[in-house]
Amino acid sequence: MAEITRDVLIIGAGAAGLTAANDLRKAGLSVAVLEARDRVGGRLWTDVIEGAMLEIGGQWVSPDQDALKDAIEELGLETYSRYREGDSVYVGPDGQSHRFTGEMFPVAPETEAVIAEITERLDAMVAEIDPDRPWAHAKAEEWDTVTWDAWLRAQTDDDEAVRNLAFATGTAMLTKPTHSFSLLQSLLMAASAGSYSNLVDADFILDKRVVGGLQQVPQRLAERLGDDVLLNQPVRSLEWGPNGVKATTDDLTVSARYAILAHAPVLYSRISFVPPLPRRQHQMHQHLSMGFVIKVHAVYETPFWRKDGLSATAFSPYELVHEAYDNTNHGDERGTLVGFVSDANADGVFELSAEERKERILESLSHYYGDEAKNPVVYYESDWGSEEWTRGAYAASFDMGGLHRYGADLRTPVGPIHFACSDLAGAGYQHVDGAIRMGQLAASNIVDAIRDAGSAEDAV
Ligand code: FDA
Repeated sequence: MAEITRDVLIIGAGAAGLTAANDLRKAGLSVAVLEARDRVGGRLWTDVIEGAMLEIGGQWVSPDQDALKDAIEELGLETYSRYREGDSVYVGPDGQSHRFTGEMFPVAPETEAVIAEITERLDAMVAEIDPDRPWAHAKAEEWDTVTWDAWLRAQTDDDEAVRNLAFATGTAMLTKPTHSFSLLQSLLMAASAGSYSNLVDADFILDKRVVGGLQQVPQRLAERLGDDVLLNQPVRSLEWGPNGVKATTDDLTVSARYAILAHAPVLYSRISFVPPLPRRQHQMHQHLSMGFVIKVHAVYETPFWRKDGLSATAFSPYELVHEAYDNTNHGDERGTLVGFVSDANADGVFELSAEERKERILESLSHYYGDEAKNPVVYYESDWGSEEWTRGAYAASFDMGGLHRYGADLRTPVGPIHFACSDLAGAGYQHVDGAIRMGQLAASNIVDAIRDAGSAEDAV
């Protein structure tokens, strides 16, 4: 068993862990990043499948995501805009597809009025929420003990309005059934992007991509750390106490003054803590779970929808593929569509054979784009639910009542153990931007703790 010693050990080489490691290095501290997989990036994974470059994990960057935008610029990466010229498509409750332009999709005038009125109300509620402290709102408990679905249904009996309003934070973002999380959790999701209106605006939230793929962010961060990033090192146990930490993998022990757990909270229990974590953490971590979404990639010889005047932006709360977009790579002659199948629909299609699932999914895409969508030259499903070191997508959220009960302790260090992950973020929650912010925060908290400990020693 090899042994190494560092100032800080970081568990997880995703955007959060690698950001923290780089910041700590800049502050003059030594680091080791232990990564379970044989690659860096975690939920960022750009790969070539049958000759097509695909973003298997996260890919989009929105204008408010300053931490991610700064990292992209600092790492010398370039961005490009998602293709969005032409009509969008909405499939209504009657199963008919409707083309439209502008922000509002085609529904009956009374439904449109209801959606506008509730959106305005939601934006006002979101404006009152501090994404870093949603539990601090005066109505946090009230809003955390009513489901997102129940709250919406109490506002209106217009089912089409409810489904479309519920969709943005539910199916599309938290990727959980809308009866399984609270209004407060939904407001946090919206607050993390600035407003509910921002979250529902595809041109905002799915604005830009990185030329060559977003995994280059963690890859370039890892390059700077060189041999201090250790792959194939799942941490099995973590001893901790007032004098520091010792992590053990299958063939390595790393001793350090501090540790950062930089992975999804659903995976904390994969590590044996010695002594066990406090009861508060034991309880809290059981109230967090991953959402579940299949990201579907379909590559065609040409972006055929463009000649039909379609942007490929398409959505419907009534379709198996609830949203889909043009995901053609920068400078690529071939056309790529990306679509998403979420929560209970994802459960359902995983009951089918791979062939039947593909057929059902392509059938749904054809409802937006016509029969040509049924014949891609490359077809691939990102299946994060079966990834041992992630277990779902996009990220973790609290069950009913969990956010106001436990949220304030999510990032509270336990002795020398600090926590960083997109799933703990306020701004950029569930996104790469949030992962970077959490990495920066954990690193600066450790630098402060070391400085404070040094000042205390000097004073003695
Ligand atoms: P992340 O999970 O990436 O990294 C944690 C690392 O820890 C992993 O590499 C894991 O292997 C490792 N690990 C876990 N347990 C370990 C152990 N015991 N020992 C050692 N290592 C361990 N975001 C966005 O901004 N725009 C987008 O378009 C999308 N879209 C999107 C699509 C899909 C399909 C997914 C899955 C996700 C997104 N996201 C996204 C979300 C985004 O990808 C995600 O929030 C961040 O990449 C998470 O980064 P973290 O570093 O916090 O965790």
